[in-house]
Amino acid sequence: MTRVAFVTGGTRGIGKAICERLKADGMKVAAGYSGNDEAAKATADELGIMVVKGNVGVWDDCVRAAKEVEAELGPIDVLINNAGITRDGFFHKMTQEQWGEVIRVNMDSVFNMTRQVIEGMRDKGWGRIVNISSINGQKGQVGQTNYSAAKAGMIGFTKALALENAKKGVTVNCICPGYIDTDMVSAVPENVLAGIIAGIPVGRLGKGEEIADMVSFLSGERAGFVTGSTLTLNGGQYMAA
Ligand code: CAA
Repeated sequence: MTRVAFVTGGTRGIGKAICERLKADGMKVAAGYSGNDEAAKATADELGIMVVKGNVGVWDDCVRAAKEVEAELGPIDVLINNAGITRDGFFHKMTQEQWGEVIRVNMDSVFNMTRQVIEGMRDKGWGRIVNISSINGQKGQVGQTNYSAAKAGMIGFTKALALENAKKGVTVNCICPGYIDTDMVSAVPENVLAGIIAGIPVGRLGKGEEIADMVSFLSGERAGFVTGSTLTLNGGQYMAA
C-alpha cells in the first residue's frame, strides 16, 4: 500500500531530507512551507514532490493545506510535524512578538496540523505521527526560553496523544535532534556555534539525513510497537534518559 506523507517545513533543512527519504521509501510525499517560494520550487522540482504554502501557526492555513494534499495524493497516513523557527534572545530582553511567534509556529502548529489528520487515521486504524522537537526542549538553552518551552511542549503532547491512540494503530513519537547542519543552526553567532560544536562528543554537526533515517523507521510498517517515545539524536551532546 502506498502511504501518503505530509512533512511541514519540508522544503529546506531537516524537512527536505525527510521528504527525500520518505519518497525513497515509496511514499507519496507533500512538503509544507511558509514563505520561501524559490526554495519550495527547487525542492519540488528536485524531489518530484508536491509543495503546499501556508503558515502552520494559523489554523485556517492548516485546514486548507491538509485538504489540498488529500485532494491530490489521498488521505494523510504519515504526518511529520517538523516546521519550526527561532527568535533567540535573553528572556529579560524578549518581546511578546518573539515569544508569540515561536509558540505559534513551533507549538500551536502541532495542534493545528495533527487535528486535521487524527480522525482519519483513527478511522483507518493506521497512522504515524512524528514530532520533531529539539535537544533544547530537553536540556534548555540560553537565549531560547520560547523555543525550549515549545519544544518541551511537543514532548508532552507526544506522550498524551500516543496514549489516546495506541489501540487505534496510530503511533506518535518525538525526535529531539541536536545541532544539525541547516540554515537555522548557521544563524547562530559564529563564536557561540564554535563553542557548541566543541561540546558535541561526536565532534561535528549532525546531518539532515541522519534525522531522516529515524523518521523513516518510525513512519514505517515495522514501527507499530514504538509509541510515545522521545528519541535523542545529538552526537552525544546531551544524554537524556
Ligand atoms: N550562559 C550564560 N551567560 C551567557 C551565555 C551563556 N551560555 N552566553 C552569553 N552569556 C552572557 C554574556 O557573557 C554576556 O554577559 P555580560 O553582559 O555580563 O558580559 C551576556 O550574556 C550577553 O551576551 P551577548 O552580548 O552575547 O548577548 P546577545 O543578547 O547578543 O546574545 C544570545 C545572546 C541570543 C543567547 C546569543 O548568544 C545566541 O544567539 N546564542 C545561541 C542560542 C542557540 O544556541 N540557539 C540555537 C539555535 S539552532 C536551534 O535552535 C536548532 C536546535 O533545535 C538545536
